[in-house]
Amino acid sequence: MEHESPSGSGAEMTRRTFLTWVSGACAAAIGAVLSASGLAYFVSPAFRKDDEGWVDVGRLADLKAGAPLKLDYVERRKDAWATTEKRASVWLVKDGDKVTAFDPRCTHLGCPFRWDDAKKQFLCPCHAGVFAVDGKVVSGPPPRPLDRYSVKVEAGRLLVNSKPIRSEA
Ligand code: FES
Repeated sequence: MEHESPSGSGAEMTRRTFLTWVSGACAAAIGAVLSASGLAYFVSPAFRKDDEGWVDVGRLADLKAGAPLKLDYVERRKDAWATTEKRASVWLVKDGDKVTAFDPRCTHLGCPFRWDDAKKQFLCPCHAGVFAVDGKVVSGPPPRPLDRYSVKVEAGRLLVNSKPIRSEA
């Protein structure tokens, strides 16, 4: 048996309308929150500022003037949602207070070169390219000086930005 509301069907409709409105508002609020967080998940990596590519490669104190040092390091890059790791290396040359960072690939065809302490030159084994300690071509086929990386010192640590700066011929 059905019970009539004391206030009649008009009051019942009002309550029903109110409940419909409240449940609709709750559903809209939940939808808005879910949409905003979902949208943020997909959009934010595209705008997230990265660490600008600076990598800590070691202590300044380990560098000796006139004795270029090759340092190996792991470069971590955040690309959208993935973090990748890449082994990399850099040649560092200290001259007074100045530190220069060279891309370890020869500017001819990209072979790794080495430092010859007796000759005080960088030697490329692939086609006998020779570079001076400042990166200039001494002899051989390399078309331009060694490419460089930006380098800075913070609290005694050497930071290298491993985006090569292409040298001019
Ligand atoms: S790659 Fe170095 S001289 Fe050719």
